[in-house]
Amino acid sequence: TSRNPLTDEQISSPLQVFGQAKKQINNIFVDIQDYVADASERMIDVNKICPDVIVENELKSILDYRSKVKGICEVLTRDHMKVAFFGRTSNGKSTVVNAMLGEKVLPSGIGHTTNCFLQVEGSQTGDAYLVTEGSNEKQNVESVTHLAHALNYEKQLNEKELVHVYWPKDKCSLLRDDVALVDSPGVDVTPHLDDWIDAHCIDADVFVLVANAESTLMVTEKNFFHKVSTKLSKPNIFILNNRWDASANEPEFLDQVRKQHMERATDFLVKELKVCTPDEAVSRIFFISAKEVLQARVKERNGQALNSGALAEGFSARYMEFEEFERRFEECISKSAIKTKFLNHSQQGKHLVKEMYKIMETIYNRSQEQTHSKMCQKKEFQEKLNFTEQQLICITNQMKMKIHQMVDDVEDKVSKALND
Ligand code: GTP
Ligand code: MG
Repeated sequence: TSRNPLTDEQISSPLQVFGQAKKQINNIFVDIQDYVADASERMIDVNKICPDVIVENELKSILDYRSKVKGICEVLTRDHMKVAFFGRTSNGKSTVVNAMLGEKVLPSGIGHTTNCFLQVEGSQTGDAYLVTEGSNEKQNVESVTHLAHALNYEKQLNEKELVHVYWPKDKCSLLRDDVALVDSPGVDVTPHLDDWIDAHCIDADVFVLVANAESTLMVTEKNFFHKVSTKLSKPNIFILNNRWDASANEPEFLDQVRKQHMERATDFLVKELKVCTPDEAVSRIFFISAKEVLQARVKERNGQALNSGALAEGFSARYMEFEEFERRFEECISKSAIKTKFLNHSQQGKHLVKEMYKIMETIYNRSQEQTHSKMCQKKEFQEKLNFTEQQLICITNQMKMKIHQMVDDVEDKVSKALND
């Protein structure tokens, strides 16, 4: 059942549907948690008074369910939507993440910049900090330069290591709505793609391939996604042809280049990976300029006006296409995450409740049987008692008669003797 569902008007982004579903399933599990706690307490009490009503295994199972439900509740509170960005070095992965966050959070730049996996997620405390793998230490982050420094110089990070960057939720709606964005080093800089996939991709709801519109899809990029799709069934993949602002310099080739990229990217998704239909591919492939979007959003955030003179030809169209990508992305990730994260929990929940019901039913039936057999024993005993009572009455009556007769006899005999 739904509790306080948001109305359609209140849902401003499809991402909120995930939050709504999370809240609802969480409430259901809180109910299940109460039910298991109640059931186990009662069983412990009953066991103390009537030890033969509950079998040891049954009590053990209920206590196991109690910890299982607790475990699911904990996982549930941590559940989020996860998007991972991949592509060749310098294609603009970090810039795309920053554009979506609306500010320069992750370090970006020419050359090989990102040297480990970086997961940006909402910070509960409102502070910005980072936590490296295997550590609980929160390192405060004051700025991007600080972050870049912490990542590059203070730690000798392994490229497949994951650093969590916690960023204030109120700064970005994606983080507020429980999206975690994972930036990666270029797929061309590692021979360990399989390890990457096992460590960072298995639970991703959406993958974004950040390609370079100035060149074409590379074999390393394609290989990576071939590997991903052997490990995950039908992964959700978006292809961003980034640096599309470069097309402004060569307007005469714009349509032709776009058509070529579109055809190749569609073939890759539809024919090679077989992850979507040609119709779906249209809403999976975009031509954008992350750098422009980031610049525009940073200016807007600082209350500065966009200097239209400095904008490259076609900026508005590219900006709108980026927004269209974000809209499609939000729909896709929310739907996929609800299915992958909550379907599993709800099946586990149903299974648990069914199993618990079976155990409780068995205990109930057993207690009914025991009550019945005790009642029968009582009845049998009562009948025996009644019979004995009847017998006693009979015997007593006979005795009484006999005594009367004997007394009469003796009286007779005495009076006769006296007369004689
Ligand atoms: P690595 O972390 O090294 O793998 O690179 P990356 O893919 O994260 O690229 P990054 O975001 O660091 O961008 C590399 C350079 O490209 C930076 O100087 C960006 O400013 C620039 N850049 C990113 N997106 C665009 C774009 O859309 N247009 C243009 N012209 N430059 C861009
Ligand atoms: Mg980067």
